[in-house]
Amino acid sequence: MSKPEKRTEPDPASDDPVLRAIQEALNEQARKEFSPRVVELWSHPRRRGTIDRPDGFARNRGICGDTMAVYLSLKNDRIVAARYETDGCGVTTACGEAITELAEGKTLEEAFGISPRALLKDLGRLPRSHWHCCLLATTTLHNALANYLALHGDAAPERP
Ligand code: FES
Repeated sequence: MSKPEKRTEPDPASDDPVLRAIQEALNEQARKEFSPRVVELWSHPRRRGTIDRPDGFARNRGICGDTMAVYLSLKNDRIVAARYETDGCGVTTACGEAITELAEGKTLEEAFGISPRALLKDLGRLPRSHWHCCLLATTTLHNALANYLALHGDAAPERP
């Protein structure tokens, strides 16, 4: 199966009136379908990136073929930093932003408690066709937490 083509969006700062009109039409459509928080998060991502030598890491592929990676840094079983990467759509970016924002500062137990429903509630309005983006983000966070536990939990093998 071939990978879907990377989607490109018109440059909002373009001087081309046609491109500007297309961008404005897209923005108008987005405002109808998505909450202001979703549009803000995908327009101005701040948490996208990696963490060097993360304490917990996972990469998952969603049902649409998009991937998300979550990087965690923990101290005393509390998440002190969380970052993500994705090759997915704007909504996936918004989900990566929100899930890492929600996770930061939480204990392991609290972070395991972040459900797709909780993420959906945090994001506000999201069409049903994009609910799977929430599932991808929460699953990836939970897998990164499981990775941390496997490496650093009580049951982790002793390091030489
Ligand atoms: Fe694929 Fe959002 S459309 S995860």
